[in-house]
Amino acid sequence: MGGSILAALEGVYKNYAMGDAEVRALDGVSFAIGEGEFVSIMGPSGSGKSTCMNLIGCLDHPSSGAVFINGVETSRMKAGELARLRNRTVGFVFQQYHLIPGMTVLENVMLPLRYRGLPPRRRRELALAVLERVGLSDRLKHRPRELSGGQKQRTAIARALVASPALILADEPTGALDSETGRSVIDLFGEINSRGTAVIIVTHDPEIGKRARRRITLRDGKITGDTAAAADDTAAADTAAGIEQKRDSRLVFGGESFA
Ligand SMILES: Nc1ncnc2c1ncn2[C@@H]1O[C@H](COP(=O)(O)OP(=O)(O)OP(=O)(O)O)[C@@H](O)[C@H]1O
Ligand SMILES: [Mg+2]
Repeated sequence: MGGSILAALEGVYKNYAMGDAEVRALDGVSFAIGEGEFVSIMGPSGSGKSTCMNLIGCLDHPSSGAVFINGVETSRMKAGELARLRNRTVGFVFQQYHLIPGMTVLENVMLPLRYRGLPPRRRRELALAVLERVGLSDRLKHRPRELSGGQKQRTAIARALVASPALILADEPTGALDSETGRSVIDLFGEINSRGTAVIIVTHDPEIGKRARRRITLRDGKITGDTAAAADDTAAADTAAGIEQKRDSRLVFGGESFA
């Protein structure tokens, strides 16, 4: 696992009331996401993947159990504090893009910076830089309906990245794209991750799932697989010196990829 813990669920249950009945969307889920991790979440429809993402992103509250962001339990925070933390820590990418139709690409990407108290010129600079990174410098004045699916998703990724969050949450980001465009979007997530941002991708596509270094599987609201647990066993068998060495080489690699 990467450096310090960015987000964690501990013994989380999530029930939805449906008339007289109750749907248990999450049934005792625990996992932690470290800095710089690249994680996929897979599982059948209705297994609780989106529910997990919404909890990690503080868009929803657990019925019981705890959600931690940067080590702080979110139920202990005031609404304003939580909104600020979310804005700074987490970027969201959705299957259906959720771009604002009346705004240009550039305006959509500048939007999350509006609440930062940055001068407009600085907001524009940051948005232009991130749009260049996703290959959209030639589409700044287009509106969402004038973009291809892949370009819409790149705009949404730029919007998620512009505030430099430590963690990007992407819920089926390639679900509405053809497979080639989907692959290029996944390559982009790989590139983003190689520069140090943690990425969690929910996907139905096993090929995409395999690209992630760590894979979590859900079924009926329970975790049925987490490759990090296996990696921990291996690490425990290593000597302390060996682990230290691995950590060093990872730091050097990280340093190079930032250059
Ligand atoms: N707002 C809600 N009200 C009632 N039930 C809900 C609500 N949101 C989700 N559920 C139920 O919780 C369960 C988990 O839903 P969730 O959206 O997390 O599944 P998912 O794994 O993301 O599925 P998919 O792959 O289809 O997106 C499902 O049975 C769903 O019907
Ligand atoms: Mg879902």
